[in-house]
Amino acid sequence: MDESDHTEFRRRIAVALDTPDREQFRRWISWFGPRVGVLKVGLEAFVRWGPAAVEEAGAQGRAVFLDLKFHDIPNTVRGAVRSARKLGVRYLTVHAGGGQAMLEAAVDAAQGEVAILAVTLLTHLDEPALKVLDLEGPAPRRVENWATLARRAGCAGVVCSPLEAAALRRANPAPFLLVTPGIRSVAAEAGDQRRTATPSEALRAGADLLVIGRPLTRAQDRQAALDRIGAEMSATDL
Ligand code: C5P
Repeated sequence: MDESDHTEFRRRIAVALDTPDREQFRRWISWFGPRVGVLKVGLEAFVRWGPAAVEEAGAQGRAVFLDLKFHDIPNTVRGAVRSARKLGVRYLTVHAGGGQAMLEAAVDAAQGEVAILAVTLLTHLDEPALKVLDLEGPAPRRVENWATLARRAGCAGVVCSPLEAAALRRANPAPFLLVTPGIRSVAAEAGDQRRTATPSEALRAGADLLVIGRPLTRAQDRQAALDRIGAEMSATDL
């Protein structure tokens, strides 16, 4: 199958550009930039190179997802979102656990120019890890409550585990965005992610945007990995 067959689906991939190596970061931007819909700049790149990382990723009109997961008092988050808006990012993350006033401050500062995505529970946290954190009880219920909170605060969507996407989609119809990390191709290694799903499972559950890092960036053969994921996505019965 020709790679162009998967174009529409590849637009729904956000590649996580997580690396401490500036040259590698630039190579990923030029390679993935024309092939996927969104480039995600995370903490590792931003803490090293600051706004220059966003500017490089966003050159030539590419959509940038700035994933800094803000979690602070509302006034500080408001200022940080305003700064991110000036950088021209398309998507920005905050922690839903920061509460309603913080989420509302983020949405207000975004002025409709940046899609605020609320992180529900980080996907590396399984129930034993949550128990240690004194967050006992079913994770899905917590995720649903926090997603509802985010929607009512005006967030554009949430970042959630693909395993929770179906329930969230039932409670939060489109255009509320469901963005899912923890994507692993069939038979791939999960790494430190716990609650994972394949690209097809995530799409079937209602995900709009799939965040994919290592399965693409660390693949021995990037083109083959992207083709395989694109093929899995386009073979999904939606
Ligand atoms: O390499 P991998 O595919 O696991 O990368 C997933 C990306 O998604 C990382 O950049 C990580 O920071 C991000 N992410 C996540 N879980 C969340 C939110 C973001 O894994 N809940």
